[in-house]
Amino acid sequence: MKGVVLAGGTGSRLFPLTKITNKHLLPIYNKPMIYYPIETLVNAGIQDIMIVTGGKNSGDFLRLLSNGKQFGLKHLDYTYQEGEGGIADALSLAEHFADGGKVCVILGDNIIEKNIRRAADEFRQQPCGAKILLKEVPDAERFGVAEIATGRVVNIEEKPKKPKSNYAVTGIYFYDGTVFDKARTLKPSSRGELEITDVNNAYIREGAMTYDFLEGWWTDAGTFDSLRRATNLVAEKGANKNGGDDRS
Ligand code: G1P
Repeated sequence: MKGVVLAGGTGSRLFPLTKITNKHLLPIYNKPMIYYPIETLVNAGIQDIMIVTGGKNSGDFLRLLSNGKQFGLKHLDYTYQEGEGGIADALSLAEHFADGGKVCVILGDNIIEKNIRRAADEFRQQPCGAKILLKEVPDAERFGVAEIATGRVVNIEEKPKKPKSNYAVTGIYFYDGTVFDKARTLKPSSRGELEITDVNNAYIREGAMTYDFLEGWWTDAGTFDSLRRATNLVAEKGANKNGGDDRS
């Protein structure tokens, strides 16, 4: 299974921090944001990784990440998203890279405490379809929200005013090779983007979607509050690991 990190977009909710740089290059405690999703993929045994970026600062990703050696990788792939087409549009650019096989897609601002090894192994065994990872949150209206009935996800609503559950769909998705055909059938949403939620609903309609719950904390980092939360959570995790002394 290959991995795709989606790191495009304008980061408009973080303006002016993102006026002269890409959101995914901003610091989360002691590392640039994009390090965390790459580490999540590598920790799940994924070695072939493509970074999808865009905008004026895309060259900085190459300078920062080079060939991926600092993550123990032999190589990194890059591609460039023109314009602002949304997550599903960004993912479409990875079709050639995926080459018909399974992919784990992670949004470049999603940061987790633990790892996704169990879900990745389960998806490696799953013959086809997709898998999403859910997390119970107090502010579900900020996310894609999963409705679950009799042990299956029956629908996902993107940022609903009245969420039907507290289960946010995290930005970590497993797809089979049909994801690119599904992305081609999408129409832009009211915010003018091709939504990953519509891709996921296409799998649900086929009865081909499984889910798991993510262990440990999860946060995105696309707003001032979540950016601060991400930094605090990562710093606390480091402090706990070092027995409270973060300087070691
Ligand atoms: C995106 C997805 C949403 C998902 C979230 C996770 O939202 O559209 O379904 O729950 O990522 O971080 P965005 O933050 O790009 O608006």
